[in-house]
Amino acid sequence: MTASASQSKKLYIETVGCQMNLLDSELVVASLRRQGYELVDVPKRADVILFNTCSVRQHAEDKIYSALGRLKHLKRRFPNKIIGVLGCMAQKDQGLIFQRAPYVDLVVGPGQLHRVPELIRQIEQGSGPKLEVSLDRTAGSRQQVAESFVSYDPLRDPQMRPTPYQAFVRIMIGCDKFCTYCIVPKVRGPEQSRPPEHILAEVRQLAQEGCREVTLLGQTVNSYKYRQGERSVRLSDLLEMIHPVQGIDRIKFVTNFPLDMTQDLLEAVRDLPKVSHYLHVPAQSGSNRVLKRMKRGYTVEQYREMLQRIYETVPQAAVTSDFIVGFCGETEEDFQQSVELVRWGRFKNSYIFKYSPRPGTKAYELYPDDVPEEVKRRRNNELLEVQNQISLELNEQFIGQEVEVLVEGPSKMAQKHADSTTGPIQLCGRTMCDRIVVFEGNLRQVGQILPVRIYDATPHTLLGMVVTHHVGPELYVLR
Ligand code: 5AD
Ligand code: SF4
Repeated sequence: MTASASQSKKLYIETVGCQMNLLDSELVVASLRRQGYELVDVPKRADVILFNTCSVRQHAEDKIYSALGRLKHLKRRFPNKIIGVLGCMAQKDQGLIFQRAPYVDLVVGPGQLHRVPELIRQIEQGSGPKLEVSLDRTAGSRQQVAESFVSYDPLRDPQMRPTPYQAFVRIMIGCDKFCTYCIVPKVRGPEQSRPPEHILAEVRQLAQEGCREVTLLGQTVNSYKYRQGERSVRLSDLLEMIHPVQGIDRIKFVTNFPLDMTQDLLEAVRDLPKVSHYLHVPAQSGSNRVLKRMKRGYTVEQYREMLQRIYETVPQAAVTSDFIVGFCGETEEDFQQSVELVRWGRFKNSYIFKYSPRPGTKAYELYPDDVPEEVKRRRNNELLEVQNQISLELNEQFIGQEVEVLVEGPSKMAQKHADSTTGPIQLCGRTMCDRIVVFEGNLRQVGQILPVRIYDATPHTLLGMVVTHHVGPELYVLR
């Protein structure tokens, strides 16, 4: 081991939650690496142990509190190790985290992540525990609260991205929809769109560094709106601005809010060839009574009308959805309406969640969590089964077809049995409409876009073979 390697400080980070959290972790890691930290894969070997947390469901929080519990003895034996809790649960629980785990040194909300390196330095110098969070949504004017949530978008280091060919790009932070079950508007603050020039500069830089696919991120990404003098730049305008960037071959965006799925956006998706025909537009429920209690702002008829508009404008669209089962007061009849919507919607995939009451939300205050756990579980399984059947039918339509796959790396199975870095290996990648494809290839092909012929399908995966285009017959004769 070299002297510098043995001296460098070690960082361990665990991330739960959404793509926004993955991006936040990537950026925090990059900023700490710049300060000389090196990543390790067990907390025992680390000087700084960070958890980037999620608050959307109770289960995600429980996981973090039990992981913290497991560190109690380690911290007692090595009191100089720094333990930090970042992200949504840090913003939600704040000082409560120090009460539940008194050996935690650092609590930082998602709107203050830019301060992490500096706060760690202060703790190293003996400052004692540090808490840095944004203002509560009712603790000041909208502007004051918004200013306390800072979008964390430092320039990235190309070598530090998890995959060099793909990148998340944040285009907005926060959410103003206030669905009654959801903690996000509270912990991620007011909706704020980033200036289009900043986004464009980031995409250009990523392209120069060899990135081929960007995924634009926002809690309600299609509500993106940036006022420039008289006019507003919308997501459709932003897509048009990014589209000409050389080197970028694919553009995706998540997550969409149904009422903001405007015609200009659908036409941009249809007309800009680099924009993926993959649209994640959560419905949450198929029952008007439940949608009203959720305060989603639309009826199931409006959702269906929107879906029809998607399929009319972009016939090849792969639409995915989220559903919550067992929301307060959900009857069997309400639930069956969700089943009907899944059947009717022909979603590529649906993410299904059991309702989890979140202190700090309107639903928690207003409605009892009255659907028993076993009923939630049964509804979850039933809806999943209906969706899986549809996913399989849709995937089977690809059998015999050739698709273009951006190769991401070894498949999960190949990672488990990794023993060869030169021979053939099972690779995995995604089509333009976000379908996962596994096929045999070579590690050199990672980062390429390859033609793959599909020969089999499961609900969530297509199985294929790389197409090698042979030399045409005339040339063949000449040889
Ligand atoms: N309980 C269960 N699921 C939830 N989601 C958001 N809040 C809750 C909650 N309290 C789900 C929604 C959202 C997805 C990211 O998480 O379906 O779209
Ligand atoms: Fe939560 Fe609703 Fe905002 Fe989505 S739109 S983040 S579900 S409040």
